[in-house]
Amino acid sequence: MNSECCNPLVPLPGKIIKIVDESPDVKTFHIAAAEGKPFTPLPGQLGMLSIPGVGEGMFSITSQGPDHLEMAIKKVGVLTDSLHDAQVGQPIAIRGPYGNGFPVEKFKGKDILFIGGGIGLAPVRSLIVHCLQNRGDFGKISILYGARSPEELVFKEDLFKNWPQAKDTTVYVTVDKGDEQWQGHVGFVPAYVEEINPSPSMVLLCGPPVMIKFTLETLSKLGFSNEQIVTTLEMRMKCGIGKCGRCNIGSKFICLDGPVFTLNELEGLPPEY
Ligand SMILES: Cc1cc2nc3c(=O)[nH]c(=O)nc-3n(C[C@H](O)[C@H](O)[C@H](O)COP(=O)(O)OP(=O)(O)OC[C@H]3O[C@@H](n4cnc5c(N)ncnc54)[C@H](O)[C@@H]3O)c2cc1C
Ligand code: FES
Repeated sequence: MNSECCNPLVPLPGKIIKIVDESPDVKTFHIAAAEGKPFTPLPGQLGMLSIPGVGEGMFSITSQGPDHLEMAIKKVGVLTDSLHDAQVGQPIAIRGPYGNGFPVEKFKGKDILFIGGGIGLAPVRSLIVHCLQNRGDFGKISILYGARSPEELVFKEDLFKNWPQAKDTTVYVTVDKGDEQWQGHVGFVPAYVEEINPSPSMVLLCGPPVMIKFTLETLSKLGFSNEQIVTTLEMRMKCGIGKCGRCNIGSKFICLDGPVFTLNELEGLPPEY
């Protein structure tokens, strides 16, 4: 059962049914409501997850199964510390889906470059999974992901096993600084983008602000237009429903009009993000 029939403002009680360690400070949580999958999000949509008595936070939904949603969560504060201490069976509540999601139609039939940095691969993953599950609808797929160190890479099974085996799919992984075991690429994401010199029709980019800034400069240098570049913002959010005014930039509410924007759309907003 999912709640497409139900009110997205009402938190559904549920529990954590699986926990996957991704890196020292990121875990993926599989979340189920009492009657199965809480709701059916589009790629790039969000859920407001809470632990009763602790707090709630907005998180991207990285993937979904028939009976659950998946969220990859970095430990940064009160709620996320508590989630990282939780065990399978932990009661939670979840409301959603929120946000506009990725413009999937715009990506159809196109060659796509996905660029993710750090925990920024979490939202990007939802569209990668969608493209690979509907492989015939999309052109060549390239995935470029960077983290600070080998141990901070998230979704390692996807990066090194699942995605490289998929049809017409190439995965590039880089770290800022290697270790004794690391035999892969070392260097920052923007420089690696320039090195591989891609020529896809669409680019989906998500990561820390500094990575986004320099990667956009590289993409512009390589001749990409603003309309070819899609990104997803991570403004502070409280209500998720356009009521509290916590997430607005100019006239736009990121929780309703975003968090996904083309670069063209972003350039029409005041520079507050
Ligand atoms: C659209 C959107 C998508 C998100 N997707 C993910 C995701 O997939 N995975 C993930 O791990 N996190 C994601 N986040 C961030 C997540 O919501 C926050 O990290 C979380 O709510 C922090 O809760 P806390 O109680 O643990 O931290 P707090 O104790 O409230 O804060 C700890 C520290 O984090 C800072 N902080 C809290 N929230 C944010 C925020 N939204 N942006 C920047 N700094 C913040 C605080 O200022 C403080 O310094 C997303 C946020 C948004 C708005
Ligand atoms: S989070 Fe309240 S208006 Fe967007």
